[in-house]
Amino acid sequence: DKGNHRHFMEKEIYEQPEIISHALSHYIDFAAHTVKANDTAIDFAKLSGLAISACGTAYLSGLVGKYWFERYARLPVEIDVASEFRYRELPLSPSQAALFISQSGETADTLASLRYCKDNGLKIGAVVNVSESTIARESDAIFPILAGPEIGVASTKAFTCQLAVLAALAIGAGRARGTLMADDEKAMVKHLAEMPRIMSRVLNEVQPQIEALSRELSRFKDVLYLGRGTSYPLALEGALKLKEISYIHAEGYAAGELKHGPIALIDENMPVIVIAPHDRFFEKTVSNMQEVAARGGRIIFITDEKGAAASKLPTMATIALPNVDEIIAPMIFSLPIQLLAYHTAVFMGTDVDQPRNLAKSVTVE
Ligand code: F6R
Repeated sequence: DKGNHRHFMEKEIYEQPEIISHALSHYIDFAAHTVKANDTAIDFAKLSGLAISACGTAYLSGLVGKYWFERYARLPVEIDVASEFRYRELPLSPSQAALFISQSGETADTLASLRYCKDNGLKIGAVVNVSESTIARESDAIFPILAGPEIGVASTKAFTCQLAVLAALAIGAGRARGTLMADDEKAMVKHLAEMPRIMSRVLNEVQPQIEALSRELSRFKDVLYLGRGTSYPLALEGALKLKEISYIHAEGYAAGELKHGPIALIDENMPVIVIAPHDRFFEKTVSNMQEVAARGGRIIFITDEKGAAASKLPTMATIALPNVDEIIAPMIFSLPIQLLAYHTAVFMGTDVDQPRNLAKSVTVE
């Protein structure tokens, strides 16, 4: 049932504040401001490293997770798309653990990567939506994302719920490993607790602006997304979402890679969507934006209020989200990215919930 939404995708985008709040309550003790010590088969305190593998959007949530586990838990992360991971003959040791991220829990390549890690003696964790799935069944520890059924083929709420669960796991790992102090944990948990309310506000406030912008975006054939740090996987996710439902060619790049190739493409026919909260990378990303502006590129600047005030560059549009802490920025910045893809596809008149050639669950290699 779509309720009063035109598509399941739209419904699932708007469900996120409520669903993520429910998902978080599984991992977080909001009264104590701590991550719950869910007793699982994976002891993060003792690990020498973590391997993560997944496909598509789930892989991109894992890529954000890598930044968090490395930064907050000082845990080295090896991550790859499952179709490569399974055949790489990556040397692994039982002192590592492995996480597999999958909405459906049935993706063939992800399952094969899981079995590879299992054969190498690693403890296996599954970050899944479907708890009765094959990937969940073959894992030692299940970390449910509790997003509820996702009907739209393009993943939205599963992505942000994966992020929320990975954030909680990384904070918990940081505490267990002594790399994150109790005060830091408390501060981060408070930000996570406030997140659903901020998500609701963002969804309501940016919708009209994004809908208007989407009408313009639907006229272009190519779009480039740029970001640094955890905004880099978001740039990849933005491009994936746009291409799969609107069929506009889109690419995501690490902003610092701009001058190593894609800058050759910059002209007025290829809008550049820059994802840049006012974080420790902001100045660097703005200098990349400057390079785009200097070559006549059109910029769509997705930032926060501080970022919007700090940059004087001319843009095609500036979307200024509320200033938020960096631990919740990836979830908050996912929202305009999802809405932009959604409304652009609606203007293009594509089958948003069932894009051509795509399947919700990819059970063959
Ligand atoms: C993109 C999308 C796909 C899936 C990928 C993995 O919007 O939905 O890229 O993320 O096929 O699927 P799961 O998570 O079921 O393993």
